[in-house]
Amino acid sequence: MSVAGGAVHLRAPAKINLALRILGRRADGYHELETLFQAVGLHDVLRLERTDAPGLELVVEGADVGPVHENLVWRAAQAFFAELGQPAQGVLLHLEKRIPAGAGLGGGSSDAAATLRGLQALFSTELPHPRLHAIGAALGSDVPFFLGSSGLALGTGRGEVLKELEPHEPRALVLGLPQVACGTAAMYGALARRRAEQGQGSAAAMQGGSSSAAQPRTLLPLTHPFDRAAADALACNDFEPVAMELHPSIAQALNGLREEHAVPALLSGSGSAVFGFAPTAADAERIATRLSAQVADVDFVATTTLARLPGPDITFRG
Ligand code: C5P
Repeated sequence: MSVAGGAVHLRAPAKINLALRILGRRADGYHELETLFQAVGLHDVLRLERTDAPGLELVVEGADVGPVHENLVWRAAQAFFAELGQPAQGVLLHLEKRIPAGAGLGGGSSDAAATLRGLQALFSTELPHPRLHAIGAALGSDVPFFLGSSGLALGTGRGEVLKELEPHEPRALVLGLPQVACGTAAMYGALARRRAEQGQGSAAAMQGGSSSAAQPRTLLPLTHPFDRAAADALACNDFEPVAMELHPSIAQALNGLREEHAVPALLSGSGSAVFGFAPTAADAERIATRLSAQVADVDFVATTTLARLPGPDITFRG
């Protein structure tokens, strides 16, 4: 695949967590977790274009996501060229942000994965998947999921150890997007304080971890077949009580979805976004319109789950 002088564009989809169990804190400060990642249709758009000027240029449109050099797109591109052992070549990266930041939807992580996929296509490099995975994991715990192919995967470790699952048929859902951002590290801290107050020390939090001599208990058992109903039976998010307490708009959004029977309805990641499933796309649209009018400070949008993660599209050849 050669696109010398050309451009590549990619959709960088958001994810939701159909289930998220947080286990114990590790020596490196991260938490062991078990999660079911599911890609959804809401996406950012990334365009990569080769330029004559050496070095990287990043333009972000659609949201204020902080300094360019801290953006995961920028960091992913730097890491990519470092892995190749060469200075960054001339690339213009244009990111159109549609996925809100601090929402638990993995927007920044998906952008980073799209950058790595896009650079591979743009420069016809063939870094093997384990190397891309390692670059992704160093950038963020959710990045490796977005480098995979199935839209549904079980994540363990700190989220970067993946088992891809047979994707389910696309399914309609409503995303609730409260106008508050939940910082991931801050939410882990809040969860730890809540567990300490409730007397759930590290032993309790380590359920399923390596504290006992017995085989680790899997909190998210994957039945065969692992169909929608089986996934729905596991629906849970350990951050949910903390997020609802900290931000009333999250509680209102979840209550709204449940009153509309958009179930299961859950928090995504460490928040602030929530989601609920609807029987059809038309139901999802109707619920999103109704709840957007009813729930203050929350936008609701209809989307669907994705069976597959999208790959790069070559938009022209030079
Ligand atoms: O890996 P990522 O950059 O997304 O993590 C952001 C922060 O969230 C980490 O610095 C850590 O504080 C927390 N975190 C964690 N355990 C995880 C994932 C993230 O404690 N499994």
